[in-house]
Amino acid sequence: MLNKTVHEALNAQIKHEIYSSYLYLAMSAHCESKNYSGMAKWLKVQSSEEYGHAMKLFHYVQERGAAVVLQAIDQPPTAFGEPLELFKKVLAHEQQVTTLVTALYELAAKEKDYPSQFMLQWFVTEQVEEEKNVSDIVDQIIRVGDTPVSLMMLDRQLGMRASK
Ligand code: FEO
Repeated sequence: MLNKTVHEALNAQIKHEIYSSYLYLAMSAHCESKNYSGMAKWLKVQSSEEYGHAMKLFHYVQERGAAVVLQAIDQPPTAFGEPLELFKKVLAHEQQVTTLVTALYELAAKEKDYPSQFMLQWFVTEQVEEEKNVSDIVDQIIRVGDTPVSLMMLDRQLGMRASK
């Protein structure tokens, strides 16, 4: 049986992951409207990964014989500024998700819910990778400068991201 507090926190995390998916989809639409189609593709792939994270939790809650209770999703912003500003926002969002995942992991440990703790290890590791990927993009823009030519090259590079 799934611990009640962990159960509630997992349902809340499903919402956070779906919000992440929604946020990156909004960012993708923003990039497309600015003719950065490569960045738009990268963000669309990221959005679909976030949806996958939500579904991982969704199926886990069901596997434990507990109810999935979906919560309201906030409307994401519609404008995100220039690429550097946008990717800094992605990084800040991922750092926030890491804080949530860490708190969830700590809660599972505190409640001695070992199966949840074990499952959440995947998310802890995933956050390390996600933060690194976005941090690399931010560093790259800062290093080469956000001139039209360097942004065009970055756009081409990010457009090569394959869907998982
Ligand atoms: Fe599912 Fe990027 O956090």
